[in-house]
Amino acid sequence: MAETALAQDMADADAFDFDPFDPRWYEDPFAAYRVLRRDHPVYRHATPQGRLWPHYWMLSRAADVDMALKDWRRFSSAKGTLIDTDISLIPPNIFNMDPPRHDELRAILSRILTPRRIADLEPAVARAARDILDERVQDGRLDVATDFAQLIPTLTMCSLMDLPVADRARFLRWNMDTLAGNDFTSPAALAAYGEMDAYWKQLVAERRRHRGADLISEILHHDKAGVELSDAEIAGFCSLLHDASQNTTMNMIANAALALGRWPVERRKLVADPSRWPAALEELMRFVSPVQGLARTTTCDVTLHGVTIPAGDQVLILYGAANHDETVFDHPERLDLDRPRVKTHWSFGQGIHTCLGAAVARLETRVALTALLDVMPDYEVDEAGVVRNQLVPTRGLAAAPIRRLQA
Ligand code: HEM
Repeated sequence: MAETALAQDMADADAFDFDPFDPRWYEDPFAAYRVLRRDHPVYRHATPQGRLWPHYWMLSRAADVDMALKDWRRFSSAKGTLIDTDISLIPPNIFNMDPPRHDELRAILSRILTPRRIADLEPAVARAARDILDERVQDGRLDVATDFAQLIPTLTMCSLMDLPVADRARFLRWNMDTLAGNDFTSPAALAAYGEMDAYWKQLVAERRRHRGADLISEILHHDKAGVELSDAEIAGFCSLLHDASQNTTMNMIANAALALGRWPVERRKLVADPSRWPAALEELMRFVSPVQGLARTTTCDVTLHGVTIPAGDQVLILYGAANHDETVFDHPERLDLDRPRVKTHWSFGQGIHTCLGAAVARLETRVALTALLDVMPDYEVDEAGVVRNQLVPTRGLAAAPIRRLQA
């Protein structure tokens, strides 16, 4: 995509001021990332009105992002992974933990999310995607964000966690209230956390009485010797599973549908040859980078490229900038389904917090987009109707209308 006038202004080193919460960057942050990688690899952003910190730092080069994600001793998650957020207000979950507790809890989930359990989801996801499209495509038009992508992860998690589908509107609202804003402990977010807590606790009490084959029952009755789970940790697991999967996957599916609409030659390659899907999926993951940035806190002074980040400061790790680093990917702003080395990307993180649901996310994205391309093999994006609502942690879409092209 062409460098925007905004980014050209920013290329002037003195004028450069990148704020990922500024809506001007939501549509195209990649030009700013280019300037960050080139001129400001360790970038300090002042936030005088910050809730907890008066500033935070950003890392954007692929090598630095990779290093920080793998070095949890110096780049800790224990003070949270959302920018400027007091995690004592949020239920405890493994995103916001360091070893040893992180590893103990992660081991429980990774033993339960088996390849077999994930593969078994495919028929239900495919059916849900087809049903949604049958119902929602009107006159060859569809909002792929609100009428499609938002619905797929919630239905998938209802299946994995055995939750009532009738509650899906409530799940989506909780997700939007907690993650789709600029203040992750806003009154709406805290109210949603309170409602979630009560919901999960009641559900956990039921599953203790009647064990099922779902993820929550398996967590409750896990067989990892010597690891006791508090009620707060179990509720945190439920909340994490739903939140981590909803926001990320819905934005992946919607942004990928937009990308395929904007790159018709690439889309037609997929329509003509679905055996391209495994490689195409990785390129789409790289290109879209649904999680653009999450934070760490330094546990000691860290000097990088001649700049010292003091101990105790928050650092925004820009996965999206790493995925578009020209030292790793030629022409990174090009969606290229034939790209070599496509396995190397940071969309699911790196190191001890690497996404535990990556296989679920890959399945949902592939199955949902395959269904979309079956129904609408040729479409274009109604650009005037696209509305973005966020950049970090996820690249959010409030509206993403597409329309079928006539053969
Ligand atoms: C396209 C969709 C998804 C993307 C892009 C994504 C991305 C990520 C990323 C970047 C992390 C690392 C966080 C960090 O570095 O601090 C992560 C962690 C995690 N993800 Fe995902 N995720 C997706 C879908 C899912 C799904 C569907 C699930 C559950 C079924 C899930 C469960 C988790 C969990 C439990 C963690 C925490 C792992 C830990 O802290 O050890 N994710 N995800």
